Amino acid sequence: DIPSLAEAYAGLFPIGAAIEPAHTSGLRAELLKKHVNMIVAENAMKPASLQPAEGRFNWEPADRIVEFAKANGMELRFHTLVWHNQVGDWFFLDPEGKPMVDETDPEKREANKKLLLERLERHVRTVVERYKDDIRSWDVVNEVVEPGDPDGMRASPWYRIAGIDYIETAFRAAREAGGPDIKLYINDYGTDSPAKRDRIYELVKELLDKGVPIDGVGHQTHISIHGPSVSQIIESMKKFSELGLDNLVTELDMSLYAWNDRRDYGSDIPEDILRKQADRYRELFEAFRENKDIIGGVVFWGIADDHTWLNNFPVQNRTDAPLLFDRQLHAKPAFWAVIDSA
Ligand code: XIL
Repeated sequence: DIPSLAEAYAGLFPIGAAIEPAHTSGLRAELLKKHVNMIVAENAMKPASLQPAEGRFNWEPADRIVEFAKANGMELRFHTLVWHNQVGDWFFLDPEGKPMVDETDPEKREANKKLLLERLERHVRTVVERYKDDIRSWDVVNEVVEPGDPDGMRASPWYRIAGIDYIETAFRAAREAGGPDIKLYINDYGTDSPAKRDRIYELVKELLDKGVPIDGVGHQTHISIHGPSVSQIIESMKKFSELGLDNLVTELDMSLYAWNDRRDYGSDIPEDILRKQADRYRELFEAFRENKDIIGGVVFWGIADDHTWLNNFPVQNRTDAPLLFDRQLHAKPAFWAVIDSA
């Protein structure tokens, strides 16, 4: 019988995992119950899942995850009210069915912006009102900063139609609907890279100065055994904590490959690679423990290597093994390293 991750980290921070509705029963559910005390929906609470068509809400898959967490005394987090992926196209179509981004007439652009922000506000209010008593921690916006795009803001339909007002609207509506007790996060990947980190910092500071309610930064932390350095990850968190913000590790996993690596270990992962992964997980969690005062929780993007978005990821189409449990749901060297670091 192996130790429990969540118990090992009790008193430091919660340990979480992203799940699908189907994971709420069977062997994987048992693994989750033993090792995590925080749950997030991997897909079921994204805009396209919750509101696939205007005014048609699809609660059932999301509710199953909420019920599972509540039945097992686990905290929940919400992912995500706003994103440029997995969002219904209907949000961005004008009343004639034409893409709002193509509009050139200034008056129509203004009307489109207003309509988009109304749709956004309705989505946020409806969802927050439904789950506010069950979910404390909310990703309000996801991946809105992109240093390579104009103004360093991701050139999504949201931004191209509404500028940064969509971000302000989402946070304000979430606070109004959810009250003072829910915690509101801006979530992104690559937050360790100085360019990304500094642009998020600048954006958050600008919004906070305007009175926009933001409580913390979610660091996806999709990393690899090759990088980035642990010190760079922690440095970014320290910077945000100086603004009085919480930091959450929201989507942790550690790929065996560099992004452009053409290798594929398949089901035959070399020992030394698993050891390397374990060593880096150890270093990471030792740093998390030392910095527990600025870290509100650590959530893995999955629990075992048979189910991870990095398997057959479209770009590289390879087998990966980024989590603490293997394809048979057995503890990997990385699991023991994380236990040792508690
Ligand atoms: C991923 C899911 O894991 C996949 O199942 C889905 O096909 C695509 O989205 N950053 C995020 C998450 O914020 O929502 C993404 O989740 C992974 C990258």
